[in-house]
Amino acid sequence: MRKKKLVDDLAILGGPPAFTDELYVGRPNIGDHQRFLERVNDLLGRRWLTNNGPYVQEFEKRVADYVGVRHCITMCNATVALEIAIRALNLTGEVIVPSFTFIATAHALQWQEITPVFCDVDPETHNLDPRRVEEMITPRTTGIIGVHLWGRGCDVDVLSEIARRRRLRLMFDAAHAFACSYKGKMIGGFGAAEVFSFHATKFFNTFEGGAVVTNDDELATRIRLMRNFGFAGYDKVVYIGTNGKMSEVSAAMGLTSLESMDEFITVNRRNYELYRELLGGESGISLISYGDSEKCNYQYVVLEVDESGAGISRDELVEILWAENVIARRYFYPGCHRMEPYRSYFPDARLALPITERLCRQVLSLPTGTSVSEEDVRMICQLIAFVIENSHEVRARMGGGEKKVGPLPDIEEENVFCR
Ligand SMILES: Cc1ncc(COP(=O)(O)O)c(C=O)c1O
Repeated sequence: MRKKKLVDDLAILGGPPAFTDELYVGRPNIGDHQRFLERVNDLLGRRWLTNNGPYVQEFEKRVADYVGVRHCITMCNATVALEIAIRALNLTGEVIVPSFTFIATAHALQWQEITPVFCDVDPETHNLDPRRVEEMITPRTTGIIGVHLWGRGCDVDVLSEIARRRRLRLMFDAAHAFACSYKGKMIGGFGAAEVFSFHATKFFNTFEGGAVVTNDDELATRIRLMRNFGFAGYDKVVYIGTNGKMSEVSAAMGLTSLESMDEFITVNRRNYELYRELLGGESGISLISYGDSEKCNYQYVVLEVDESGAGISRDELVEILWAENVIARRYFYPGCHRMEPYRSYFPDARLALPITERLCRQVLSLPTGTSVSEEDVRMICQLIAFVIENSHEVRARMGGGEKKVGPLPDIEEENVFCR
């Protein structure tokens, strides 16, 4: 690791990068290798690789107990879990969702020809703004999908009240929120159903994977049927279904990850608090906060970069960090409403989304997880502080034709790097 003393030391201006190896957002956390391999040996010996095997059953029970819900139905990933939950809830027509989310939230609706109606978010929480939700309801609206972004709970109480009063179904995309609470209650038990992601980039992973959790017995039965082609017995299909099953090897990883989950959270929290301490005084930079009274997985270190205060834009900062091998990410750039097919379907959507538009320009996520050390965090913070302190000169030099690194890769390329 190399500390910067002069503007010329920045890698973007020709200096050596601060880190020899790239540091990522969402590098997988891996639990006890030996324990995982024992489980893999065990399942190979059993020759029961998928189709509701013993590890899947055990993992579902452990997750349901941990979250405090009646049912956990594991899936091959959270996108399929969302699609199935949406279908099982009979959502049709229009469903209100935030645009400031990963594209899967919108695609899970559009995939089944349900229109995602993009709603603006609260500037503090980055979650659906209930006042805006109410304005988006039309006679075609059948549901609301809140996203607990960064693991911070949506305004569940107000959304539940709106859903009840307007006779809408309410569910949550809790892809970020495994092991988090809202008002002291574990996320997973709110709305009709909630969906977790256990993708490799999440702090807790099953390689690929996800789950629908619910307290509704009848809904759980329908979701289980839909996950397995609608099979209710050997030769008996009673429902339209798909293949959403989690494999045994994924469940083995999930059980192993559960055993190390406290350790993952402890490291995430340590990194988050250090970032907070070291970046707290930087002008134009604000780090999102996590309430002390809630349980949280601390898997996202999210900054808002205000160009007028920092003297540098979010995109310039990302470009500088990438050159130093700090692969910070512009979540969720450019916003679902600016991606296809939604951009063509709703060319004016941005007019109703001023907060989303601003966040898409300003939000940045920094590397954390068990592969990021305290020393790494200190170095990243020192880099950011150095750039802000010297923003005038850095900017002039970057725009002065001396830039050594090309423009940021487009969004598809960024996903290849990180997912
Ligand atoms: C908010 C949100 N929803 C859904 C998903 C989809 O999850 P998966 O990759 O497990 O399909 C993600 C994944 O990154 C996400 O961030």
